Amino acid sequence: MAIIYNEQTKTFTIHTEKSTYQMKVDQHGMLLHTYFGAPTDESDYSYLIVPEDRGFCGQPAGAGDDRTYSMDFYPQEYPVHGNSDFRVLCLKAGLKGHVPTLDLRFFSYHISRGKYALSGLPALFGEDEAETLEIVLKDLFEEIYVHLYYGVFEEKNVITRTAVIENRCKEPLEIKRAMSLCLDFMDNDMELVHFYGKHACERQFERVPLLHGIVEIGSRRGASSHQHNPFVVLCRKETTEDAGACCGVSLLYSGSFRIQAEAGQIEGTRLVCGMDDDEFCWTLEPGESFTAPEAVFSYTEKGFSDLSNGLKAVFHQNLIRSEWKDKKRPTLVNSWEAAYFDFNAEKLLAIAKEAAELGLDMLVLDDGWFGVRDDDNSGLGDWNVNEGKLGCSLRELVDCVNKMGLQFGIWVELEMVSEDSNLYRSHPDWAMAVPGRDPNRSRNQLVLDLSRAEVRQYIKNVIDTLIQSANITYIKWDMNRSMDNLYSAAEPGAPQGVVRHKYMLGLYEILEYIHQTYPEVLVEGCSGGGGRFDAGMLYYTPQIWCSDNTDAVERLGIHYGTSFGYPMSSVAAHVSECPNEQNRRVTPFQTRGICAMQGAFGYEMDLSAMLPEEKDCAKEQIAVYNQNYRLFQQGDYYRITSPYENHDVTVWSYVSRNKETAVLCGVYTDLHGNAAPARAKWKGLEEGAVYDVDGRKFTGMALMRGGIVLPKPECNYDSFMIFARKV
Ligand code: DGJ
Repeated sequence: MAIIYNEQTKTFTIHTEKSTYQMKVDQHGMLLHTYFGAPTDESDYSYLIVPEDRGFCGQPAGAGDDRTYSMDFYPQEYPVHGNSDFRVLCLKAGLKGHVPTLDLRFFSYHISRGKYALSGLPALFGEDEAETLEIVLKDLFEEIYVHLYYGVFEEKNVITRTAVIENRCKEPLEIKRAMSLCLDFMDNDMELVHFYGKHACERQFERVPLLHGIVEIGSRRGASSHQHNPFVVLCRKETTEDAGACCGVSLLYSGSFRIQAEAGQIEGTRLVCGMDDDEFCWTLEPGESFTAPEAVFSYTEKGFSDLSNGLKAVFHQNLIRSEWKDKKRPTLVNSWEAAYFDFNAEKLLAIAKEAAELGLDMLVLDDGWFGVRDDDNSGLGDWNVNEGKLGCSLRELVDCVNKMGLQFGIWVELEMVSEDSNLYRSHPDWAMAVPGRDPNRSRNQLVLDLSRAEVRQYIKNVIDTLIQSANITYIKWDMNRSMDNLYSAAEPGAPQGVVRHKYMLGLYEILEYIHQTYPEVLVEGCSGGGGRFDAGMLYYTPQIWCSDNTDAVERLGIHYGTSFGYPMSSVAAHVSECPNEQNRRVTPFQTRGICAMQGAFGYEMDLSAMLPEEKDCAKEQIAVYNQNYRLFQQGDYYRITSPYENHDVTVWSYVSRNKETAVLCGVYTDLHGNAAPARAKWKGLEEGAVYDVDGRKFTGMALMRGGIVLPKPECNYDSFMIFARKV
């Protein structure tokens, strides 16, 4: 049993392979958090909480004048607004027309086999390997209940959490903030690793000490965003890739979010994470309930590599549902950087012909194939094929591509509308805009109101018609602006935060429809590159276009950051032309391939214009990827050097789960005269095994402890890929 309730001490102890987590119902019925750390026994760890009069720390009802008892410094499981806790909180709610105040006390609990499920929201799934703990808290004064759910994957070292707020009162309840998780560590002296960025530069690694005050990251853009990612790691100063305590927290939500970490006034570090509560006020009518998105967390004392590989495995096995998850992802050529809006069937078929000769699996037709869309100012919403531009029907084009031995994929951006489109002319109220004001435009487009059932139905119909019109086996689901002007004509007066969340529920409903109706279709997520690269999306789309930046060198940092919280199979990465379209950098063709093989591999260039030597190199890259796709898609991933610290060479490695095969890859990012030899220490190999590396034999221990001498760079941004095979 991973979840143990002790009747005498009223403690709930949760064990996973690498951690123990404990809560306790105290003498006042409060649910305190008493332990989270290295695996230990079921002792009652509440002795670690030291009651003392701390001054300016008030007492909740029932505690009388016991000034040593205050929610303001006690570690808690789900802290609420209104009972004297002034730190960052999980829940703020109150009956309509009343001051929002809650005082939650323990009511009941239930332990069951299998993982709880959520309706309409992404969540991990698991049967025999998981257990569920439900703890019900009730407000001391009103019929307001909070159900805290814990899904425990003991062997996979992961716990999930969510909170369901239930109104059993006779009046409506207004929820102003409903976070998914609180982690109250008893000590401070912690650091936060988070991943910030911007368009074309997502998930940059940053590690900050948690000093006094609140460190906050989040998004108010209606999407998880390029700027911040809903995945963070709390760690110790001494934590490294290979050792030290760290706890990763991932929010399974693709909309606006908020993660706050606060170092306590006396001691302790609190992390709360959930949906953004800006302009949020959700009304729960009597009998209704509200579910906060799921959060997933994992603790290890073996450093970041162990944390990342554990989370990646659980996301791969218990979050991604697509039929494609274990299949070889199609190697593809995408028309975007190859042709942008300037193509017809002839041009596409010329690219397809080269793709087939090189050994690729698929042609993807990106933006520009529908309505009137020769640039990004018009056409979104009119999802009828522009046969005039193509010079044939979509079915004819797809049939020709299929005849060449390639599959066919297509791009859509169904969440958006151009004002210059028939859809907008017929249904202007389907676009979100504040009445009486000129709407804010971004990429000259508006956001469709996915909170409305008729809009969602329109989108589902478009998908049906498109998929049934030709042999389409892949969809790239794009979304190219941040959301503001949040206003739903169907629900005038609804708070913007409510519209934003209903939008997300609407989007998930559509993606679920596609998943259920077309399980054989591979859906790749995208939002102007990696603007919605989050674990919530992985539930529907097993891979996500990682960034609009296809420069191999900048991708090193982007892939490095992304690799902390996401499986590499989800990272879509392509070889593109040089000078690179985004930063004009020139890198060797081989380097571009080695970088793109870090994920779901493809090309994003006019293959028909390639030089003969580039063709040879591409052929070899595709063959290497095809032969080793299991290693790239499912192997454990090790960050060997960090591009944020080592400015000379970035090295990473994949090791197959059975440790039979491994590959060490790297890119030189700087060159020096009379340079010292570069060496790298491999990771994750079997110490006692002997590996063949380019005909030389080494023990796993030698490769990991002594390391390997890296090939000398021959040119700017030179790279290498070295295989080790167990003999
Ligand atoms: C943004 C995506 O990230 C690109 O790959 C491309 O699909 C464009 N949108 C098309 O408009």
